[in-house]
Amino acid sequence: MITIQDKQFEIFISQKEIQDTVNELSIAINNSYSGKQVVIIGILDGAILFLSDLIRKLNFDVTIELIKLKSYVGTKSLGTISELIGITQQLEGKHVLIAEDIVDTGNTISHLLATLRDHHKVASVEIATLLLKEDVFGEKFAIKYVGKKIADKFVVGYGMDFNGQGRQLPDIYVAV
Ligand code: IMP
Ligand code: MG
Repeated sequence: MITIQDKQFEIFISQKEIQDTVNELSIAINNSYSGKQVVIIGILDGAILFLSDLIRKLNFDVTIELIKLKSYVGTKSLGTISELIGITQQLEGKHVLIAEDIVDTGNTISHLLATLRDHHKVASVEIATLLLKEDVFGEKFAIKYVGKKIADKFVVGYGMDFNGQGRQLPDIYVAV
């Protein structure tokens, strides 16, 4: 058990399980993109650890674009997305892979998909997320690479935060 601010969390997904999941995702992604040039869009801040572990396992040509979107305060999705850092690279004609720590309502990725559709003529776009809260998400769009499907519970660690804290935890914890 750990406490962050006023909330208690218990261990949920171990470092070993996270690394196995990232490995499995990287195998599927390597199979799809072999020989291609790909831009990976990482969504700050949450995706930092997933992105850095994932890209070290990829064996095709990748460049990275980091954007910063915010939808959460505390343990609640606001339903609105603030774009704190947007896309700065020319993405026309590029294969784009979005790397996300966790998809909950899907609003964050919907926002990004709309931006890509309206302003960038990309060759292809797919999504890789470590975690998916499938009951909340309800298949609003296709997510090709999903690490683990989880219940609608609040998690921290491995990049994911509670009010800014807990991102550095190597394991993933769930609120109790
Ligand atoms: P969505 O827009 O509702 O899909 O939320 C996605 C973003 O909210 C993720 O990229 C996370 O940054 C954050 N988020 C969603 N669920 C959790 C959680 O359980 N813990 C920490 N952050 C979360
Ligand atoms: Mg995030």
